[in-house]
Amino acid sequence: MPWDIKPPEVNIGVVGHVDHGKTTLVQALTGVWTAKHSLEIERGMTIKLGYADGNIAYCDGLPLPDAYTIKEYCPDGSESKLLRRVSYVDAPGHELYMTTMLSGAMIMDGAILVIAANEPCPQPQTVEHLMALNILGLRNIIIVQNKIDVVDKKRALENYNEILKLVKGTVAENAPIIPVSALHHINIDALLQAIQEIIPTPERDYTKPPLMYVVRSFDVNKPGTPYDKIEGGVIGGSLLQGRFRVGDEIMILPGIKTQVGSAKSQVSKYEPIVTTIEEIRYGNLIVDEARPGGLVAIQTKLDPSLTKGDQLVGSIVTTPRNNIPVVKTLEVRFQLFERIVGTKELGKLPPIQVNEKIAVAIGTANRVAVVKSIRKDIMTIELTDPVATWSGSRIAISRRVLARWRLAGWGIIEG
Ligand code: GTP
Ligand code: MG
Ligand code: MG
Repeated sequence: MPWDIKPPEVNIGVVGHVDHGKTTLVQALTGVWTAKHSLEIERGMTIKLGYADGNIAYCDGLPLPDAYTIKEYCPDGSESKLLRRVSYVDAPGHELYMTTMLSGAMIMDGAILVIAANEPCPQPQTVEHLMALNILGLRNIIIVQNKIDVVDKKRALENYNEILKLVKGTVAENAPIIPVSALHHINIDALLQAIQEIIPTPERDYTKPPLMYVVRSFDVNKPGTPYDKIEGGVIGGSLLQGRFRVGDEIMILPGIKTQVGSAKSQVSKYEPIVTTIEEIRYGNLIVDEARPGGLVAIQTKLDPSLTKGDQLVGSIVTTPRNNIPVVKTLEVRFQLFERIVGTKELGKLPPIQVNEKIAVAIGTANRVAVVKSIRKDIMTIELTDPVATWSGSRIAISRRVLARWRLAGWGIIEG
């Protein structure tokens, strides 16, 4: 009897410095190459958040970790037991896409930090991504020491010690460190075992009103599709709580951006979108209901020009009955790092200033904001574009350092 395929139940982030092998690892775990855009293929790097669903299965009668597999059949030809389905969220490692990594981190239930053994550790985004996991409170972390095939034993041990030093005092202090070759599929079974042991599926609350973070949005129609064959706009993301069913009416916040005012003084205005769910998919699996855990694609009745090209990334999807504030001004209780992370020049950060421009990741939304006032550890910030959020949300704060946004601290929305 073939596996009974169910939707994935947990989101596992794959993070770390550029080219350390995150996408290759996701391929080893799922068989899927997540980098699909032409620019990503051309540059050999991840630019948008990638995702792929994977299976964790078990073969009875084999020693550990050999018993763990992603395959439906065991070496002796018997069928393996499917333990769990997982959505991997493949983050870009390049420093230019740090804000994309941050919005991905908002939907991760746990994370794999990939560190290439053949480079000195830490590299800048190894630190920056680890700090992001730290400030966003991701507790369930596994470290993969990758590219083990191109280093000798001495360098592997040296790198292991570099990693221990790096994670000391962080959220990854007790994380297992698993030597892997993502390219040659070496020790993937030990990684699967660690995922089962370290990253449990969180308790979900289905009774609360549904809330979904949007991480992608698409137009799935090929150019030239006749009008009557056009399929509605698709939004991809992950539910935080509650559930959606096919046929449900949903509301997307803050919604559609429109420019109002004269050519000289244009301001952008957002209008909530209300639509209906036509289809729910997890990868190729079509289901009646979307739940927390896993990346879901929801096809709506919307004109696909509204969802095309990731326009709705950062939105919240809920029901029209649920009152989620859409705000431009936020009070934030904040804490900043003392030192700059994410570059090789690790200088001290000056105190934050009134009128300073900062970048904030609020849910999966990335916004630029201006600091309006600071009172001890509370600041009032004004966003250039509104966001749907609620008090108690944890946000990541970036500051402008050497012409780049650098992760600089975190905050909790107070009001
Ligand atoms: P970004 O998305 O740009 O941050 O990179 P990434 O971390 O996803 O790295 P990617 O998987 O694209 O791999 C980068 C390069 O490293 C590719 O040429 C891979 O083939 C190579 N690579 C990845 N894993 C291994 C490994 O285990 N061993 C060796 N020798 N090469 C590897
Ligand atoms: Mg690359
Ligand atoms: Mg990649």
